[in-house]
Amino acid sequence: MEHRIPPEEVKPGMYVRGFGGSWLDHPFFLSKFVVKPEHLPKIVQADIPYVVIDDSRGVGLRADPPAARDHVAAALRETPPRPRPVVRRDAASYDQNRRDADRERARGLVKSSLVTMRRTFGEVRLGRAVRLSEVTALVDEVVATVERSPRTLLEVLRLKKKDEYTYLHSVAVCTLMINLARHLGRDEDQVREYGLAGLLHDIGKMGIDETILNKPGGLDESEFGQVRRHPEHGHEILLRTANVPRLALDVCLHHHERVDGKGYPHRLSGEALSEAARLGAICDVYDALTSDRAYKAAWQPVEAIAAMWRWEGQFDRRLLFAFMQSLGIFPPGLMVRLRSNRVGLVLENRRRNSRPRVLAFYAIREGEPIVPEEVTIADNFANDGIVAATSPEEWGLAAEDCTPEFILKGGFQRRQRAALAMQA
Ligand SMILES: [Fe+2]
Repeated sequence: MEHRIPPEEVKPGMYVRGFGGSWLDHPFFLSKFVVKPEHLPKIVQADIPYVVIDDSRGVGLRADPPAARDHVAAALRETPPRPRPVVRRDAASYDQNRRDADRERARGLVKSSLVTMRRTFGEVRLGRAVRLSEVTALVDEVVATVERSPRTLLEVLRLKKKDEYTYLHSVAVCTLMINLARHLGRDEDQVREYGLAGLLHDIGKMGIDETILNKPGGLDESEFGQVRRHPEHGHEILLRTANVPRLALDVCLHHHERVDGKGYPHRLSGEALSEAARLGAICDVYDALTSDRAYKAAWQPVEAIAAMWRWEGQFDRRLLFAFMQSLGIFPPGLMVRLRSNRVGLVLENRRRNSRPRVLAFYAIREGEPIVPEEVTIADNFANDGIVAATSPEEWGLAAEDCTPEFILKGGFQRRQRAALAMQA
């Protein structure tokens, strides 16, 4: 039987089936193993809310030897019962306490980052230089909070008010860049550089009139011209600031370029754009779509992801898929390859912010249909993981057969078996 327990309650001999939180939060390459004494310090120090153990495959929750239990029982018999407060540390309340603490921490960071970014942008508007030490200190705080719970920080940032958008959009893009760079396995220094690039990418907006920035209606041609100047203006500001990394300069200048060459300011396309610039474009658009603006209401994260996946040619598909993985959000209907060597379809997610569900229906190695199975993809990929986007053509399947309804009614399996029988 599986149990979720706090990391400090893990004992040698227990069989670990997985970890709570993101797979990035624990140092173990494998998430299923028998605990040895040398694992304990790493488990306790890891930033994870709980550990999943399986007592049918290892030591259970009552790991004390019988002699020790007898000794405790005897001691209890001899000691008169005394009323004392009951401290419950079951997994559910532990999870809740941790979520509350994470949310509190995220709110605090968003509040202080708003002050820092208002001051930084305000000084730039007055023609002063960016105080790099102040913004890098903020990046470090975001890195530390993302390590703990990127999801919570992004949820809090999404609630930004319209008049806070310019400042907190920078913090949100910083957070998304850090989360994505960690997901892509970048080292610590690079993760910080991506974060700084996100934080400063829109610094050139300080050259735009505030009335235009917050205008609810459409922009006229000269206003639009001002807006389109902001990447170059920001680049000039950062060039005047000592020690700004090249990556931040690049993302600032090119975050409105598109891989099909239809962006601005230089209409660069494909490989002419650095990976950092392509990542910057994805994080920038995602946050813009999922925020309330003067002229539109916020989209749900899954709606934004689905639209960005549909807008072929705008974003690097490989990096956009990595972005989806880093957030654990996938558009319903997307056909995916699972780590278990199965093909599946991402299902509609009715509950907000819940884990993605996939209907697995085809075995890749065997090249044949399987009994459909609904898999919920956990953050730590303990049960299964989405490893790539795929298409019916890749497996010689008919697109019209690959719908959840047809698969669940058994139509897909019947058609595939009939086709296999004809080939035999
Ligand atoms: Fe921008």
